[in-house]
Amino acid sequence: MKMTVFGAGYLGATHAACMAELGHEVLGVDTNRGKLAKLEAGDVPFYEPGLPEVLRRNIDQGRLNFTDSYAEAAAWAKTHFIAVGTPQKKGEFGADLSYIDAVIDELVPLLTDDAVLFGKSTVPVGTAARLTTRVSQLARDVDVEVSWNPEFLREGYAVADTLHPDRLVLGTRPGGRAEQVAREIYASLIVDGVPLLVTDLATAELVKVSANAFLATKISFINAVAEVCEAAGADIAALSDAIGRDPRIGRQFLNAGIGFGGGCLPKDIRAFMARAGELGADQALTLLREVDGINMRRRTRMVEIVRAASGTLIGSRIAVLGAAFKPGSDDVRDSPALNVAGQLQLNGAAVTVYDPHAMDNSRRLFPTLDYSTSAMEACEGADSVLVLTEWPEFVSLDPTSVSDVARGRNIIDGRYCLNRQDWESAGWTYHA
Ligand code: UGA
Repeated sequence: MKMTVFGAGYLGATHAACMAELGHEVLGVDTNRGKLAKLEAGDVPFYEPGLPEVLRRNIDQGRLNFTDSYAEAAAWAKTHFIAVGTPQKKGEFGADLSYIDAVIDELVPLLTDDAVLFGKSTVPVGTAARLTTRVSQLARDVDVEVSWNPEFLREGYAVADTLHPDRLVLGTRPGGRAEQVAREIYASLIVDGVPLLVTDLATAELVKVSANAFLATKISFINAVAEVCEAAGADIAALSDAIGRDPRIGRQFLNAGIGFGGGCLPKDIRAFMARAGELGADQALTLLREVDGINMRRRTRMVEIVRAASGTLIGSRIAVLGAAFKPGSDDVRDSPALNVAGQLQLNGAAVTVYDPHAMDNSRRLFPTLDYSTSAMEACEGADSVLVLTEWPEFVSLDPTSVSDVARGRNIIDGRYCLNRQDWESAGWTYHA
């Protein structure tokens, strides 16, 4: 099937390449020429394992092209995916929908045939209904249907999550064409047994935000228990393993540490709260205020742990290993690791950061931090070594080699990912 994908960021570029991988003829659309030039050359402008191969294969086979022309996009297909960003508004909890609105305003008047729009971006409930009204005002003698097909991919596993999802969710209006079109687009996944769950528009929008809110809640729950463990001298990692054995609880997303970050979980729970408030249903979501609060508290707690371990932060030399919000990604949006690094620096420490993939993005966001070219270089002369993103190369660091270059012997594990015994036997004091 011919289709377009608007937005060439993490979500859009992955979706475009993966739809081409399913055999469709895809035109990726973005207003950023620089980003398009990279993609056209087969370069993914961010780190996502496996995506460059899928991108290049489909460009070479002629199924994937890119354009910044909305006229070309409108003429190309009757199926359009909208995968542009919905970041947190500046100074507010709500989501900024201006990129979605801009796509609709520019695309819809150009459509000369009936079309189905599939929203993929994460949006506040009610957005699809609002856009349906807007589209009907903008469409010129054509029937343009708005449906919502939220995405559940994780950065670092984006290709696998798109090509082998747990479920497909589709919000549609009764009697529309979207379900039939979606069944055709995703035919090979549905044959493989992936369930397609069809709902109304509002439910599909809420499925997405509720999924992320639940994941955030799970992380903050275990981090709240970690606070009690710390006070009581109990072991949070052993506790997580033990409660995670219960299939009703499950072990995933029970890793305590410096908490969640990234471009999705933090802004999605805030947008959820803001929207619930607008709808008068805010009481139920005081829970999420606490989830956010617990999460932010982890970062300050980490600074306190480093202060206690180092005696003082002023003049203390600190190696921060990890800057990405999680391993497998170069994304530093709302990264707990960089936030902690920044706070330590503000408190007078000399901080050196190293990350295997997120150095360029970190330098752009925090130009005043010092950066190294390797983990060992970052540890040179350090009084304390912090592991804040659990990249495999940090998990497998050899404590004895680090001893050869560091000045102090404090190892601080922000992700419960290190082997405590190994570090302690090499003479380090382990904190988590
Ligand atoms: C998240 C969801 O997991 C995806 O399903 C969703 O599609 C995506 O947001 C989105 O809305 O686009 P992602 O942001 O890639 O995916 O990252 P996660 O793997 O969910 O991790 C989020 C954060 O939680 C990371 O900072 C990670 O370090 C932290 N985390 C995760 C913990 O602190 N503990 C855990 O046990 C698990």
